[in-house]
Parts: sequence; structure tokens; C-alpha cells
Amino acid sequence: MTGTRAGAVADGTGSGERAPLLSVENLTVRYRLGRGLTGRARTRTAVRDVSFTIPGGRTLGLVGESGSGKSSIGRAILRLAPVSEGRVLFDGADTAGFGRRTPLSFNRDVQVVFQDPMSSLNPRQTVETTIGQALTRHRALSARDRDREVTHALDRVGLASYHADRYPHELSGGQRQRVAIARALAPRPRLIVCDEPVSALDVSTQSQVINLLMELQRELGVSYLFIAHDLEVVRHMSDEIGVLHLGRLVESGPAEQVYRTPAHAYTRTLLAATLVADPVRQAVRTAHRRALGATTPAPGATPGTSPRIGDPA
Ligand SMILES: Nc1ncnc2c1ncn2[C@@H]1O[C@H](COP(=O)(O)OP(=O)(O)OP(=O)(O)O)[C@@H](O)[C@H]1O
Ligand SMILES: [Mg+2]
Repeated sequence: MTGTRAGAVADGTGSGERAPLLSVENLTVRYRLGRGLTGRARTRTAVRDVSFTIPGGRTLGLVGESGSGKSSIGRAILRLAPVSEGRVLFDGADTAGFGRRTPLSFNRDVQVVFQDPMSSLNPRQTVETTIGQALTRHRALSARDRDREVTHALDRVGLASYHADRYPHELSGGQRQRVAIARALAPRPRLIVCDEPVSALDVSTQSQVINLLMELQRELGVSYLFIAHDLEVVRHMSDEIGVLHLGRLVESGPAEQVYRTPAHAYTRTLLAATLVADPVRQAVRTAHRRALGATTPAPGATPGTSPRIGDPA
């Protein structure tokens, strides 16, 4: 990993004393593109030499512009994209050692929430079926226990029991994403890869879903890899932030530090592009901060100590 604060995430010392749940070591993701006109096999390197760790119960926010390799990293962790070089260790075990058959325990422990629940949820299944299936995939449950747990899962993500009978198209975007979160939580995972889970939602719904994810983390101790193209979104929920540029991690460190005193020129560009140059986005962001109940001043204002959103008073 490159960047001035790389060591803080790479060796886990920036996250306190907790042992890493996930370690990504010098990860390179290279896609095969098939043969070109010359007949030579072509490849595209989407991620180069990226390293970070996520301790249990913590969040790493991964930001970068479109095409920077964020989803490729998430997919490599989920074993959906090739780990061409380097290693992905989950709970100390090298996932390359799993071979073709991913162990059931890994399939249970590592879940995913995607950006668009309309395409990730089955349109022909009710909420009850979707969550019920996720509950019983890894555990034997009686029909009665299953119903009870579906109701509990809905309650936990802020939905009512009557939502159980609804189909995805009968729900709002935020409600659909809550169902996707309930489905991801059903197997009681230890890590959830959240790939732009709020990018398609309006600002106030984004804040609600982020607050929900943070509450669930406090309650359940689950870790998140939270992918976004927006530093403001990850700032509030991340312990650490990594900034990706053209497949490389150019900066990483504690969230507030990266946000307030970005060391890398690209991070400053990301911040400047979204916070200063665009007055419309700036207004949206101010509303966002308010909706999240943030008490911190806007970037550029005098830095001071600020409570993390959602921390107990
Ligand atoms: N299956 C694939 N085969 C070939 N190239 C791919 C594949 N998936 C992604 N890429 C390429 O890898 C690079 C990184 O893509 P990736 O989807 O990881 O970026 P991203 O940061 O998630 O972007 P976005 O913000 O648009 O979702 C891009 O150049 C993309 O075109
Ligand atoms: Mg992506």
C-alpha cells in the first residue's frame, strides 16, 4: 500500500488493539478480457497492491471515483473476482485455500448489500420469503420460529410486520434497502460488504439507512466494508477511510484525519470537487449533516474535537 498513513490501516495499529477480522494484503485484481485481434490474451488490472485490515465490529470506508476499483475489491473479498496477487485473509484463514468450494461458514459470515435493492431482491418474492430463506439457509428452523424471526428481523431494520407480505415494487427505495439489510443480517454475519448501499437513495433516506447500519453495528458487533464514491457519506460511519485512485490505495487513516487533513492530492481533489466547487451538492451535504444530527463544522471551518455520530453521550 502506498500513502503516508498506509501503515495505520495495514498493520491494524490505527484501529486499536483489536485483531483483524479481515486482512487484505497486497491485493491485485486482474480481469481476463479474452483474446484481441492479435490473438494475445488481454487483461485489465482493476486493483493494484492494495492492503488494509478491518477489525471486528469496525468499519472501513472505501472511497474513489467511478472505475477506481472499489467494487472489484469487494468482489475479491466475496470470492466473486480473482485475487490475482496478494491475499485475502478472513479470521486468519487465506480464502485462496478454500479452493472451488467456499465453506458454508464463510458464506454465512460474509454477506453483501448492493446499491440497487430493486435488482438484488427477487421481484416475485414477498419480503417474508426473502428473509425467511436467508434465515433457514444456514439454520434449521421450525415454521413457527421462522415466522417469529422474520418479524424480529423486520423490527430490527425499522419495518413493520405487515411489510412481510409486500413485494419489492410495493416498497420505497429506503424500505427495499432495509429488506436487503435484514436479509444480509439473517445468517448472523461477521462482515458485510456494503457496495454503495445508499447511493441510489435521497439524502434524508441515506442518513436513515446509515444511522440504521451504525445502530446494528453497535447492537451486533458486525464489521463493514462500506464502499461509496462520496467522502461525506463514509465519514460519519467509518472508523478508517481508504481512498482509491486508479486501482491504488493512495491514502488511508482514521476517518476524521483523512477528512480534515487529507495528505494526498487526490483526496483533496475529491473533497474540493464535491464540497466547494459545486454549490448544489454543498447544500445537499449541509442537509445531510443536519439529518445525521452532526454537530461538526463544515470542512474548511476551524477544526476542533467532535463527537462521532451515534456515540453514546
Ligand atoms: N468483470 C470485469 N471484466 C473486465 N473489467 C472489469 C470487470 N469488472 C470491472 N472491470 C473494470 O475494472 C475497473 C474497476 O471497476 P470497478 O467496478 O471495481 O470500479 P468501481 O470503483 O466500483 O466503479 P463504480 O463507482 O462505477 O461502481 C474498471 O475499469 C472496470 O471497467
Ligand atoms: Mg462499483
